[in-house]
Amino acid sequence: MIVAVATQKGGSAKTTTVVNFGAALAERGERTLIIDLDAQSHATLWLLGSTARQVGPFVHDWLDDRVEPDAAVRPTRWCDRPGGGTSMCSQQISA
Ligand SMILES: Nc1ncnc2c1ncn2[C@@H]1O[C@H](COP(=O)(O)OP(=O)(O)O)[C@@H](O)[C@H]1O
Ligand SMILES: [Mg+2]
Repeated sequence: MIVAVATQKGGSAKTTTVVNFGAALAERGERTLIIDLDAQSHATLWLLGSTARQVGPFVHDWLDDRVEPDAAVRPTRWCDRPGGGTSMCSQQISA
């Protein structure tokens, strides 16, 4: 299942929805990958903390063909659950 949450309007709870929906899926035992394409990288901040936004490789490194996609995937605290959650981060996508 692939779920995309998108709307041009900022502050409309996209990130809040994605982070909580992803965590709920992981807690139910689903393998969950959250892809954070927003240059604000708030999903990454929420799931992994501020230091994760400074250490690459990032999702834009994969989009630019500099790394394989797996290189940008980080484990989250939900990874010890039966399904496990993961996150991609995108800080500096606009740098
Ligand atoms: N159900 C809610 N009730 C109150 N505040 C909320 C709710 N959902 C999100 N927020 C708040 O709204 C703000 C914007 O949410 P966010 O998910 O970051 O928006 P977006 O990703 O669409 O820009 C955040 O400060 C968040 O804590
Ligand atoms: Mg957001």
